[in-house]
Amino acid sequence: MKMIAISGTPRKGWNTSMLLHKLLEGARSKGAETEIINLYDLDYKGCKSCFVCKTIDGKSYGKCIMKDGLTRVLEKIQNADALVLGSPIYFGRVSGQMAVFLERLLFPYITYETPSKSLFPKMINTGFIYTMNVADEQMREAGIDTHIHFNEKMLSIAFGKCESFMSFYTLQADDYNKFLVAADGETRIKRRKEEFPKDLDKVFEIGAKLATES
Ligand SMILES: Cc1cc2nc3c(=O)[nH]c(=O)nc-3n(C[C@H](O)[C@H](O)[C@H](O)COP(=O)(O)O)c2cc1C
Repeated sequence: MKMIAISGTPRKGWNTSMLLHKLLEGARSKGAETEIINLYDLDYKGCKSCFVCKTIDGKSYGKCIMKDGLTRVLEKIQNADALVLGSPIYFGRVSGQMAVFLERLLFPYITYETPSKSLFPKMINTGFIYTMNVADEQMREAGIDTHIHFNEKMLSIAFGKCESFMSFYTLQADDYNKFLVAADGETRIKRRKEEFPKDLDKVFEIGAKLATES
């Protein structure tokens, strides 16, 4: 089985990236073939609302006709058996690159019927990893969980089951004396050492599960 991971963080080797790589490691432990694609390496634009993908009896019904850095990625996803996304939370939602990617990924597949149907060729399992500065309770207060549930719903309609994983209170900088960021650097460094490894274990298991269930 082939699992594709889409990374929506500009920081390779940091929180989101580490979790995605660990999830793929879990998938490989069950024999999956894996690939990670970094959105920040690609040049692409958001959905132009041209409606070619919605043109009844059109040659490109259900397909995005825009030609740019995402074209090849969307083709690869057509042939994937599992899809995993990862993004940091930026101002209460996924990163801009991830938001733009989701427009291009989802709009062609989800129909306007009630209830919506999917034009994706088969049902596949998906996962979405989110990393953020805040803790669980603050995430709910800020309504970020509503955004996460919405993504979960859209991915479920387009592809099938979607599992979300949130990693809270992440390490933002190596040296908290150097930058004016969250003041509780020491607590975050401690959390990185003690709690983050547990998140890595959990996503490894999610990867293994997605690989065996798909
Ligand atoms: C532009 C920007 C906006 C951010 N907005 C939020 C936010 O609204 N809520 C939050 O909890 N964290 C926010 N953060 C923190 C990141 O979500 C957090 O540090 C994340 O784990 C970074 O992921 P990375 O290490 O993979 O880059 C923001 C960071 C940046 C750079």
